[in-house]
Amino acid sequence: MSFKNKVVIVTGANSGIGAATALMFAKEGADVALVSRTQAKLAAVAKSIEALGRKPLTIQADLSKEADTAIVVPKTVEHFGKLDVLVNNAGISPAGSLTEGTVLQAYDEVMRTNVRAVIQLTSLAAPHLAKTKGYTSGAY
Ligand SMILES: NC(=O)c1ccc[n+]([C@@H]2O[C@H](COP(=O)([O-])OP(=O)(O)OC[C@H]3O[C@@H](n4cnc5c(N)ncnc54)[C@H](OP(=O)(O)O)[C@@H]3O)[C@@H](O)[C@H]2O)c1
Repeated sequence: MSFKNKVVIVTGANSGIGAATALMFAKEGADVALVSRTQAKLAAVAKSIEALGRKPLTIQADLSKEADTAIVVPKTVEHFGKLDVLVNNAGISPAGSLTEGTVLQAYDEVMRTNVRAVIQLTSLAAPHLAKTKGYTSGAY
């Protein structure tokens, strides 16, 4: 399936499923915005995409923070001019212990990253996806 001239945001794009997804979209011709916290790992994935002849945008953002999450869609649209696909892939699964008092901390971390950020990003992306008749997906 060709994604030529499509603009795709992939969160959690510097590792595992997200990196493979970003690479696949780029192989199919998309312009890709790569999002995660660790710039050095983002740069490595960007390099693999550049080897395919495409120029990705890297956005360093901690999606557990509302202010960081808020920059992702505007930066992408400012850079590429539109948005066609949002892949909400970033996520964590920390182990919390019921007996050691860490379960609520783990719950809050998961909710901030895996749920709240997905809702925030999807809400910010929705007007742009409506314009392009685009698509969004989540890992959950
Ligand atoms: N692999 C599985 O079997 C499996 C099963 C069920 C669900 N999932 C879900 O599928 C997704 C991808 O899985 P994976 O195995 O590829 O995971 P992974 O290799 O651990 O990658 C997670 C990605 O999310 C990013 N990330 C984590 N917290 C972030 C934050 N606060 N802000 C921005 N980026 C953040 C990480 O980058 P930084 O650390 O640099 O930010 C990384 O790029 C995850 O949501 C995972 O929970 C995976």
